[in-house]
Amino acid sequence: MKRFLFLCAASLLAAAACGQPSVRIAHGPYLQQVSEDGFTVVWTTTVDAAAWVEVAPDDGTHFYAEERPKYYDTHIGKRRTGQLHRVRVGGLRPGTTYRYRIMQQAVLRDEGNKRVILGEGYGSDILKHEPYRATTLDPSRERIECWVVNDIHGRDSILRQLLADAPERRPDFVCFNGDMLTQIESVSELFDGYLDTAAELLSPAGIPIFATRGNHENRGSASHRYLDYFPTPTGEAYYAFRQGPVFFLMLDCGEDKPDSDIRYYGLAATDAYRAQEAEWLRQVVASDAYREAPLHVVFLHMVPGGKSSWHGEQEIRRLFVPILNEAEVDVMLCGHYHRYGWIDDGSRGTNFPILINSNRDKLVVKADRRGIDLEVIDPAGTTLKRHRIDSRSADTAPDRRP
Ligand SMILES: [Fe+2]
Repeated sequence: MKRFLFLCAASLLAAAACGQPSVRIAHGPYLQQVSEDGFTVVWTTTVDAAAWVEVAPDDGTHFYAEERPKYYDTHIGKRRTGQLHRVRVGGLRPGTTYRYRIMQQAVLRDEGNKRVILGEGYGSDILKHEPYRATTLDPSRERIECWVVNDIHGRDSILRQLLADAPERRPDFVCFNGDMLTQIESVSELFDGYLDTAAELLSPAGIPIFATRGNHENRGSASHRYLDYFPTPTGEAYYAFRQGPVFFLMLDCGEDKPDSDIRYYGLAATDAYRAQEAEWLRQVVASDAYREAPLHVVFLHMVPGGKSSWHGEQEIRRLFVPILNEAEVDVMLCGHYHRYGWIDDGSRGTNFPILINSNRDKLVVKADRRGIDLEVIDPAGTTLKRHRIDSRSADTAPDRRP
């Protein structure tokens, strides 16, 4: 006990001597990259810190009943320090709920190889007595529900209205389908524009975010840091996952104009990136994991091009649509136009329907192996549109797994 008190006193003295404030949680946490065997927790702190996540099963025991496993914020074999923290929790069971709390120690003094002094620990349990929760994905789930919002463009109050009942309804996840900001000039814009509200409403309920990048998220001084805040399993802005009967393709649309456009200042390299993405897409739709799933849903911010479309949409049609037309896609969910649309006449070259969600409504997606129900709901909670899509492969349902 004496030793403990001595260490506490030494830590406080060191903090005071360094003139450093205690570390506090600045933004978050929010859940990213949830998979069948893990999840990633993202948050920021008020000062540079070393962070970790402690995880306990959701079994009714007290979080402090025993020492819980710690997962550190590491990168290439070393703990990271800084204000942004991304901790991967792995080795978990599918379809299982876990409790977690986030912890950090301020970097009181960093003299490089000579000396590093960390401060006292500070964690989410001090702000919030209930631990957070996270549930791993489960391909055997019979029925799933996810919500989609897009083109918020930093209108935080609209997002708050659209997600207000998420804590009660508890969808499996919320998809931010692009253009959540008009540009990413600074990291604080991300939080002020929508992520603070998202974390406040979604994280206590254990609802993860799956994001796609819109054309506008390519713009601004901090746009190159997008993946720092929305890490993906591929390390790219495109990725895929399965939840319940649905295989989700999360595609990156790139920019809307040609790379040479004067508004991009010579910095756009979208065309090559979309071509790289198309090669990845070709491999994913050929995989067993894709083919075994009863249903396939594509999230993509921009819409495949029509006759009068801009360059980006034309490239999406040229590069992605031929691959998707061979891949039994049940529906593609887009944004970008800021108004509702339903395209099932093949006018965009697709052999699957496209739903375009507006910039002020949310789309509720419910699916089981027989099909998908889509519901467009306005901020007041009124249902504006409904669509039903029966599974394209009813002959092979309930599942294509051998
Ligand atoms: Fe857009």
